[in-house]
Amino acid sequence: MTRLSATLFVPMNKRFYITTAIDYVNGQPHLGHAYEKIVADVIARSRRSLGQDAFFLTGLDEHGQKVQQAAQAEGKTPQAYCDKLAADWQAFVKKLELTNDDFVRTTDPRHKAIVQAALAKVFQAGQIYKQTYEGFYSTKEETFLTNKDRLPDGTFDPSYGEVIELKEENYFFKLGEQQAWLIDYLEKNPSFVQPDYRRNEVLGFLKNNELEDLCISRPAARLNWGIPLPFDKDFVTYVWFDALVNYISIPAAHGDATVLSALNPQPSTPINSDESRAGREQALNPQLSLWPADIHVVGKDIVKFHAVFWPIMLKAMGLPLPKQILVHGWWQKDGGKISKSTGNIVDPIAVIDEWGLDAFRFYVLRELDIGPDGNWTDAGFKSRYQAELANGLGNLVNRSLSMLKRYRNGVVPAKHDELAAAAAKAADETRALFEQNQLQAALQSIWGLVTRANQYVDQTKPFKLAKDPAQAKRLDEVLYNLTETCRVLAVLLWPFLPGTAVKIYAQLGLTGTPDKFDAATWGSLPAGHKIGEPAPLFPRKDER
Ligand code: ME8
Ligand code: MG
Repeated sequence: MTRLSATLFVPMNKRFYITTAIDYVNGQPHLGHAYEKIVADVIARSRRSLGQDAFFLTGLDEHGQKVQQAAQAEGKTPQAYCDKLAADWQAFVKKLELTNDDFVRTTDPRHKAIVQAALAKVFQAGQIYKQTYEGFYSTKEETFLTNKDRLPDGTFDPSYGEVIELKEENYFFKLGEQQAWLIDYLEKNPSFVQPDYRRNEVLGFLKNNELEDLCISRPAARLNWGIPLPFDKDFVTYVWFDALVNYISIPAAHGDATVLSALNPQPSTPINSDESRAGREQALNPQLSLWPADIHVVGKDIVKFHAVFWPIMLKAMGLPLPKQILVHGWWQKDGGKISKSTGNIVDPIAVIDEWGLDAFRFYVLRELDIGPDGNWTDAGFKSRYQAELANGLGNLVNRSLSMLKRYRNGVVPAKHDELAAAAAKAADETRALFEQNQLQAALQSIWGLVTRANQYVDQTKPFKLAKDPAQAKRLDEVLYNLTETCRVLAVLLWPFLPGTAVKIYAQLGLTGTPDKFDAATWGSLPAGHKIGEPAPLFPRKDER
């Protein structure tokens, strides 16, 4: 085999690469975490359905003082504490049926090796320096405070907990000199931060504030649950130089040549589970070109880290910037902040166990567009379940297939095109909306077809046609249109409601998964095909 120099390597097979924020391992997953992961999953699935090769990454952020303290309180090592919680979070990923291609834990050796390589590179480039800090510090929030953070009465916000005075040496990452090009970049690349109003917020922040250099370390004597700085073992990295790097450490672990050639990690570092030379050669796999990411899906509270700090870090590493930061809003429940201490929570697992995964996935994406804040109410959830899932989609599929069964023994009649235009319209719109990550609008368009087909039943009255032998041909036409519409709906819905889409296919007597968008073309269902057994997709729930 000819050995290619990684630096000369031009990625030929760049995959569509999408990530989520990595969740802090403390606590259990809640509605907000579930929402973000489902958004990313639907985008990944929709891209795959459209024929793109997508790589979807999610995972956990495991270092820091809170974890160290929580572990101590339970009498565990931080690693044992993280391992136990990580198992819950990984079970949650399965529960949501996420199609992630990898799951990163910041305690993975493969991640730590790249964090150290990134720090070494930025340090060598002269972008990191050491300085003594003297001032206020919130232990609870693990953050330095200045007089600017004081309330009008001179105190610090109670959310900071006890604020102490501290004098300590730390490492800082230079941000100050980077402001001008970043403003320029944001102005020239309107799609870099989406939606637009989030981009405007970032621009406003950059134009009206002078960036202070970012403290990236903590003394190991005070915090040892972190990744040691490669150039000073008395310090560990603090938060963002660890967490953000997950977006490139996993590509590196999969052999991404762009990241590996920029960071040039030590050959001895275990970037892959297979540390052998053969493993490394295989790891430099031109098929697995991921960086730059196409989309980082993140919540509104961490935009600054992703749209300001991360681009500057990447530039210092000599790496290209991600194509887009896609910012979602926050969920409330009943108009109030989601909070464990007040008990104002939505437990996604309980909702899924009671109503089914697809009902949960549907509600969060149909209720809330990517961008604004949302409000969960149990009444709103039930109402969408009843109206749109049970009476809308579920009723359409069930009555269409039941009538085909009853009147035609489940055998598909000759092709007919009465609903073809409505189906093509929904398919064309959905395709275009998928390409713009407009998930809520795509669901609205798909439900346009559901509603149209339900109206068609009411207008054509197949139950009446069935009573008149002279109307046999007309009944054939109506039944073909309804059955084929159900099949098209399965294809359009697959990224959102994968379980339901597969059930519709199975009830249609079709094998396989409706996971290729091209199958949405009208008229694929052949005459003479025999369907399977209809069964309710969304059972009605009796109000008790
Ligand atoms: O910030 N509604 O982790 P995290 C919607 N580890 N989204 C919400 C939400 C809500 N009520 N609450 C939280 C972290 N989120 C860091 C990220 S990334 C390199 C490191 C979202 O567990 C939040 O906006 O606090 C974020 O995108 C994600 O959940 C993880 O939050
Ligand atoms: Mg948070």
